[in-house]
Amino acid sequence: SDNWIETISIDDVPEDDVIGVTVNGHQIALYKVEDEIFATDNVCTHGHALLSDGFLEDGEIECPLHQGRFCIKTGKAMSEPLTEDIKAYATRMEDGQVFLKFR
Ligand code: FES
Repeated sequence: SDNWIETISIDDVPEDDVIGVTVNGHQIALYKVEDEIFATDNVCTHGHALLSDGFLEDGEIECPLHQGRFCIKTGKAMSEPLTEDIKAYATRMEDGQVFLKFR
């Protein structure tokens, strides 16, 4: 069996930007960069801030609260004050929809 979960329409993910969605009770951030979709947890590992309120640049999302930056492909914490990575999820596009894989 697989665990691909349907989320939202590809067209509803803003180009070169981020949107927050709730998938199976999880807060997820979806990103679209050059027609590729990436997905990570939306809640910052440092404090209670949503990355979907942050700023996407050069493949990194900057947290709106203390400007910590995560890689949107791997979830890796790239800068101070972050010490903990976020989860990144595999994505798939099919029938105009974005699917997300929960491990
Ligand atoms: Fe995200 Fe502090 S809450 S960097």
